[in-house]
Amino acid sequence: MANIKKSITELVGHTPLVELTNYNRNNNLKATLIGKLEYLNPTGSVKDRAALNMIEKGEAEGKLKPGDTIVESTSGNTGISLAAFAAAKGYKLHIFMEPGCTPERTQILKAYGVTVQYYSDIPGFNEIMAQYGFDTGRIVAAIQKFADDNGYYYTSQLFNEANPEAHIKTTGPEIVEDTDGNVDYAVMLAGTAGTLTGVGEYLQEKIPGIKIIGAQPNLESMYQPGEDRNTIDGVVHFDNNGEARHPFIVGRKFHYDECIDVDGADAYATARELATSDGIFLGASAAAAVYAAKQVAQRPEAEGKRIVVILPDDGMKYLSTKMYQEV
Ligand SMILES: Cc1ncc(COP(=O)(O)O)c(C=O)c1O
Repeated sequence: MANIKKSITELVGHTPLVELTNYNRNNNLKATLIGKLEYLNPTGSVKDRAALNMIEKGEAEGKLKPGDTIVESTSGNTGISLAAFAAAKGYKLHIFMEPGCTPERTQILKAYGVTVQYYSDIPGFNEIMAQYGFDTGRIVAAIQKFADDNGYYYTSQLFNEANPEAHIKTTGPEIVEDTDGNVDYAVMLAGTAGTLTGVGEYLQEKIPGIKIIGAQPNLESMYQPGEDRNTIDGVVHFDNNGEARHPFIVGRKFHYDECIDVDGADAYATARELATSDGIFLGASAAAAVYAAKQVAQRPEAEGKRIVVILPDDGMKYLSTKMYQEV
């Protein structure tokens, strides 16, 4: 039977689970690591899910009409997802890029015809920085004002319930369906934490006893202007001794069982290992998630368990970094 889609928006989700068979064997892991290949979404990242859901919510609420302009701030993947769906649906897109993003991200956005500016271009940004430092709430308010002044629609991913909801509606159910609910741990990093809160909440409800493991770049692997670091891009350091200090999706209460710090160099080495062991070519946050999952898999209590690892994107946007240059 013919099966032809009308739009790339119909291709979001239903990403496969794949056992990291050779990696598991080579590392003598007693638990089974299983990757969820989010890079097989149409624009190559997990953010397709949240972006599409936020656009569809704006449409359903009558706030977004053909020809309108969407505005968002992003480290790249959300912008790329919004860009593709905006093109397919007839919207324009205005992006403010977070500092420290790889040039590949900006180039991709420009290819989609997006207006790309930087945080320093947000009206009032320099005044906020001078008076309060990097204050997320004030920066979001400044972007909202910019959107209101121009008649743009601000998807505001950090505050938009459609972001975690996308994972409650799709990512979580896919994991349960494809494993018959037989999962002991789920491991992922957090940018907005839409994935962590949405997938975590759904799996905790459907699979009693499952452990939700957050992972984060250690402080030395966070982008710092002017410093040459092995950064893990697109994600934040959200946990401080068991306390979530990143605002997450604002207002969401969520319990994760543990958070594991990952060093950028370990993530990069994991990425290079997986590319050659299993032909799985990962971005930095995905490789960091695998490295964190490996720590869990090496514990005696994890013997015989199944660990699902969310792999948000592939290595293409990291070719200009040190990640794949040490091969
Ligand atoms: C590379 C990468 N990994 C992971 C994430 C985490 O996604 P979330 O915003 O759902 O926490 C992002 C988010 O932008 C990302 O760009």
